[in-house]
Amino acid sequence: MTTATPATTGTPSAGTTPATTATPTTDAVAATATVPAVHLRGLRRVFGSRAVLDGVDLSIARGEFVALLGASGTGKTTLLRILGALDQADEGTVLVPPVRTVVFQEPRLVPSKRVLANVTVGLPRGATTRETGLKALAEVGLERHADAWPATLSGGEAQRVALARALVREPQLLLLDEPFAALDALTRLRMQNLVGDLVRRHRPAVLLVTHDVDEAVRLADRVAVLRDGLLVRDEVVGVDHPRDPADPAFAELRRNLLADLGVH
Ligand SMILES: Nc1ncnc2c1ncn2[C@@H]1O[C@H](COP(=O)(O)OP(=O)(O)O)[C@@H](O)[C@H]1O
Ligand SMILES: [Mg+2]
Repeated sequence: MTTATPATTGTPSAGTTPATTATPTTDAVAATATVPAVHLRGLRRVFGSRAVLDGVDLSIARGEFVALLGASGTGKTTLLRILGALDQADEGTVLVPPVRTVVFQEPRLVPSKRVLANVTVGLPRGATTRETGLKALAEVGLERHADAWPATLSGGEAQRVALARALVREPQLLLLDEPFAALDALTRLRMQNLVGDLVRRHRPAVLLVTHDVDEAVRLADRVAVLRDGLLVRDEVVGVDHPRDPADPAFAELRRNLLADLGVH
């Protein structure tokens, strides 16, 4: 293992110690290619007397896009925060790659920094920082807003800046916590398409937390459902691209997911 790093079970700071530095043989390279980006086993997180996460097993392959569904309060954000090292597991194994970035429901831009400075905030300063930031802004269609202040942006634009800020660091794991939930329906659809395009280009592993079943089925390679502290479903999305909600396979998966969520 060269990129997965023990994040919890006693090791508090994730992303610091590569597991090995030995020169890989051909076999080792082949084995490394199959090491997932995310590996969770028996993950437990307890708040007070309630185990919000109580034995979660989840693997995400490199470049794989997993959508995590669950009713409000089931622990989706808790799981995502543990993967982002913003919170710690009480028990279990958590392996994550060193470079992870997060996009939340709110853009969380720094109001006193211009758009470009918000994008490059996590990058080391260097001769190419500005150029790298502008390229990331161009990818989300906001190059012309580089010198704007966050307060002048629409909600959708601000969220695109947050996306550029997350991608500019070329994460191996991109964590998205209901990033479209606050947007109007049309903007949300556009953002979903944009995220789909960007992820295909950059190929990070992705965990998208959402409570929107159609969004999950449209975007993800796999869908998982969190309920009562466990994943009650973890399934490959077997719907042909481009994914059409009218496709019977799409409709059947939607029905099953809604049933998992208690909607019949
Ligand atoms: N730091 C914390 N301290 C105590 N309880 C928490 C904390 N974080 C989350 N919780 C509780 O854990 C449960 C799951 O929260 P959360 O992961 O935010 O759910 P979701 O994102 O699925 O809506 C909720 O009941 C919430 O109140
Ligand atoms: Mg949440």
